[in-house]
Amino acid sequence: MPGLFDSFTLKAITLRNRIAASPMCQYQAEDGLITDWHIPHYTALARGGVGLVVVEATAVSPEGRITPGDLGLWSDAHTEGVAAIAKAIADAGAVAGIQLGHAGRKAGCMPPWEGGAPLASVDPQAWQPVAPSAVPLIAAHPHVPRAMSLEDIHRAQQDFVDAARRALAAGFQWIELHFAHGFLAQSFLSPHSNLRNDAYGGSLENRARFLIETVAAVRRVWPVHLPLTARLGVMEFDGHDDVNLAESIQVLQWLKAEGLDLVDVGIGFSTLVPVPWAPNLMIDTAAQVARDTGLNVTTSWLITDAKDADRAVRDKKVDVVMVARRLLDNPHWPRQAARELGVVGQVLPTPYAYWLQNWSPA
Ligand SMILES: Cc1cc2nc3c(=O)[nH]c(=O)nc-3n(C[C@H](O)[C@H](O)[C@H](O)COP(=O)(O)O)c2cc1C
Repeated sequence: MPGLFDSFTLKAITLRNRIAASPMCQYQAEDGLITDWHIPHYTALARGGVGLVVVEATAVSPEGRITPGDLGLWSDAHTEGVAAIAKAIADAGAVAGIQLGHAGRKAGCMPPWEGGAPLASVDPQAWQPVAPSAVPLIAAHPHVPRAMSLEDIHRAQQDFVDAARRALAAGFQWIELHFAHGFLAQSFLSPHSNLRNDAYGGSLENRARFLIETVAAVRRVWPVHLPLTARLGVMEFDGHDDVNLAESIQVLQWLKAEGLDLVDVGIGFSTLVPVPWAPNLMIDTAAQVARDTGLNVTTSWLITDAKDADRAVRDKKVDVVMVARRLLDNPHWPRQAARELGVVGQVLPTPYAYWLQNWSPA
């Protein structure tokens, strides 16, 4: 059985190992453009030894940004900067992936460490978010999204397609569509946020329509030999997890039929219900999703122990593990994990490996 440090091939793309840097917003962009922060940050993640780096949630339109500092790919002017990120990742030996997203009703907020609240309407940077229905995340909060017209919906889908085309031009080889965390796509799927009574609301198939059509449309421009993946929130921890999971599995079967290659099994966050945090929280759920959909899977959430990660891969629960905060602590965590698991050489550049091996006790 392959382990954490065995390669993973999906379509024409091979990861040198099964550790991926999970997408992490950096809040450092200006008008969606990269700044001096981004290249060293992504170079560090890739040099640290992961097989795949998925670049942070990158907005497909300005109103799709979670915060004003989000990276964007909504115009050709944004392509050059993210191309430099893709090159830095590939030069360091990892596969360059990018997460494309639209924050829906959660757009237009302060960064989390400033409270994450919606920008005050008097703030010159503020904008009114859009969503399937005019339902705010925070009940009775004035940050009420504008309910999208059919034209808005088709525009947003086209924005995903255009961003995918730019990501390809920029040199990315892996796309993750952000269909989780209560952002636009997840908010179509969730009855908490979707009260529509047209073709995009009501039945599961209608609530899933935005996601299904978006995958199909992106697949048409994203080459068939490159992985098309999505992060889907399959649970909300809102007391209806069995329903959420069963519905998500059905939705993933539809997405697979449209050409989805892998799912990053995530959390819905469509409500403010607290999550029962625990180590390796989503691994068993990811395994169930893999079994029931036949899709390749990855997941994140509190995977911090090398042996746990290796076991999850060896037990075929996941194909790849996504790691986020552990890599912020230490971008070289894959090297540490390799040493812990007794895997020699793989992620260590030759000079480091030489000295490590030569200056160790016999
Ligand atoms: C600083 C930071 C930024 C994040 N930004 C994103 C993001 O852009 N897109 C996303 O889907 N998840 C984002 N996440 C969630 C991570 O991708 C990951 O799912 C989560 O942190 C759980 O993994 P961990 O326990 O290894 O940190 C972010 C997490 C952190 C810590």
